[in-house]
Amino acid sequence: MTHIIIQDLQWRHTTKKYDKTRKISQEDLAILFEAMRLTPSSINSQPWKFVVIESNEAKERMSNTFINNYQFNQTHVFDGSHIILFAHNPHYTREDYAEVVQNGIEDNRTKPEEREGAFAPFFFAELNTDEVGNTSNWTKAQTYLALGNTLHTLARLKIDSTPMEGIDTELVNKEFEKELDGYECDVALAIGYHHPEEDYNVKLPKSRRRLDSIFTHI
Ligand SMILES: Cc1cc2nc3c(=O)[nH]c(=O)nc-3n(C[C@H](O)[C@H](O)[C@H](O)COP(=O)(O)O)c2cc1C
Repeated sequence: MTHIIIQDLQWRHTTKKYDKTRKISQEDLAILFEAMRLTPSSINSQPWKFVVIESNEAKERMSNTFINNYQFNQTHVFDGSHIILFAHNPHYTREDYAEVVQNGIEDNRTKPEEREGAFAPFFFAELNTDEVGNTSNWTKAQTYLALGNTLHTLARLKIDSTPMEGIDTELVNKEFEKELDGYECDVALAIGYHHPEEDYNVKLPKSRRRLDSIFTHI
């Protein structure tokens, strides 16, 4: 297949070693961040926060979180261009949804006089809230949509990436507690440009389950 979407998805791969001499341009970063912002989510809840680790000081802090585990991902912190923490809101409330409703008014999607009615979809958040107010199952799922959208956008921009569930979530959440501001990080993303010789994964052919194994047409 030669379609550009297929080419992008064939082109992207999980980078195993970055070229530390190459950093992402501000122009590409701006496109990336806007694409992330435009990610769709259930009831437009957008229950995510993205912490972008760019400075040497922040990278040092991130690097330290690999002290016990997942050292295979640690080199990406300094060799890559940026690390992005993907965090979800574990207690999504009506107050959080109020920001979404307000944006809808400011973006001329909702009339100011329809403000109260615009809260109606929030019942869906309530359906996904347990007896102690935890919404993680639902908000984490939305945050992974942002991750998927980010991976595809990066492929279009010809920027390499490494999604990382291999992070010490306890240490990451402790180290970046202030920046996360109540949100929880379960997955991070390294971005940059792969090392021309040392990234073994760039040369491997892509392998996926077969169409007839994953699709049922009825
Ligand atoms: C949510 C998620 C978490 C992942 N965690 C890691 C990780 O911690 N380290 C790593 O090297 N690869 C990680 N991967 C990469 C997968 O192994 C990879 O996407 C898969 O094998 C398909 O290969 P490809 O990305 O090269 O097409 C992760 C991928 C996803 C989507």
